[in-house]
Amino acid sequence: MMTQADKSLHISAMERGNIKDQFKTDVKKGLGDTPKKLQSKYFYDAIGDGLFQQIMTMPEYYLTRCELDIFKNRTVDLATLITNAGTAFDLIELGAGDATKSSYLLKHLIRQNIEFAYMPIDISGNILNVLNEKLKADIPGLPITCLEGDYFTMLKKATKISGRRKVVLFLGGNIGNMEQEEALAFCLELREHLNPGDIVVMGFDLKKNPQTILDAYNDKAGITAAFNLNMLARINRELQANFNIDSFKHYQNYDPLTGACRSFLISCDDQKVSIDEKIISFAKDEFIYMEVSQKFSQEDIQVLANATGFEITCSVTDSNGWFTDSLWVAQ
Ligand code: AVI
Repeated sequence: MMTQADKSLHISAMERGNIKDQFKTDVKKGLGDTPKKLQSKYFYDAIGDGLFQQIMTMPEYYLTRCELDIFKNRTVDLATLITNAGTAFDLIELGAGDATKSSYLLKHLIRQNIEFAYMPIDISGNILNVLNEKLKADIPGLPITCLEGDYFTMLKKATKISGRRKVVLFLGGNIGNMEQEEALAFCLELREHLNPGDIVVMGFDLKKNPQTILDAYNDKAGITAAFNLNMLARINRELQANFNIDSFKHYQNYDPLTGACRSFLISCDDQKVSIDEKIISFAKDEFIYMEVSQKFSQEDIQVLANATGFEITCSVTDSNGWFTDSLWVAQ
C-alpha cells in the first residue's frame, strides 16, 4: 500500500511541466541579461546532485565536515534547544539533501521518544526518493513526509498538513547562496510562514582565512568546475540547447572585504548558442555569473536575524570556529 510519505513523493505531471517551463524562462532571461547569469538552484539535477555529493567529500570543502562535527558532537545541545517546552513539533528541513547531518538529530529524538514528524523539503525529487528509502531503513519508526518543490510552497503545504509548532532546519550554509537582499527577503518570508515561538536552525559559513575559502571552491580535482559546467550540459539535455561545454572555463573568486565567494563560467571564444528559437551570443572572455557562496561574521548573522523578526538564542560552532548553526526564535 502507498503511504502518505510515498504519495507525497510524486508531484503531478502538470507541476513537473511548470518546473520545466520555469527553468526555460529563467535560463533565457538570465542569459539575455547583462551581465549573463544563471540561477544556482538549477545545479541540482541527478548529475548535479551526484557532483555535489562528491564536493562534500573533497578535502578542500570543509563546510560539510564542520557542520557534521556540530551535529555529531553537539546533538544533545541541539535537541535540548529545539524540544524546549516538550510539545510535539514538525521538524522541517529546507533543502534536505541526503540528511547526513540531521539524521544524528533524528536518531537522538527517536531514541528519546520525542513526539515529532520529519518533513524534508527539496527541489530534487531524485534526492527525496533516495532519502525516503534510506531513512525508512536507518531510523525505523520515524514519521516522514517528503515534500518536493520550492521551499515556501512546501512550507505552506507543511503548515496545512499539521498545526503543530515548527522547527525549521536550513543547514549547509545554503543561505550563503543568496545575494544579500535575497537573504533578507528569504528570512522575512520564512518569518511570515511561522508563528511566534517557532524555531529556525540556520547554518552559516563564517569568514576565515581567504585562501581556505577560495580553495574550497577551486578544488584541484576540478569537481567544482564540473559541477558548474553541468548546468550548461543540463540546459543542453533539457532545453535542447547546443552549448559546447569544452569552450567554457570555471573561474572562482573570493573577496574578503564583502565575504562574497563567487563562481563564473568564462567563454573561451566568440560563440553562439541556441536555446529554442533564441540565439545567445558570447564574446571571448565574457562570463556567466553562476553562484555566490556568502561568508558571514557573527555580527552579520545578528543583523540578519534582528532585521527579519527573529531573536538569536544560541549559536553552536564547530571546533575550528569555521561554521556555525545559529538558533533563531520567531518573535
Ligand atoms: C549548497 N551550497 C551551500 C554550496 C556552497 O558551499 O555554496 C554549493 C556549492 N557550490 C560550489 N561548491 C559548493
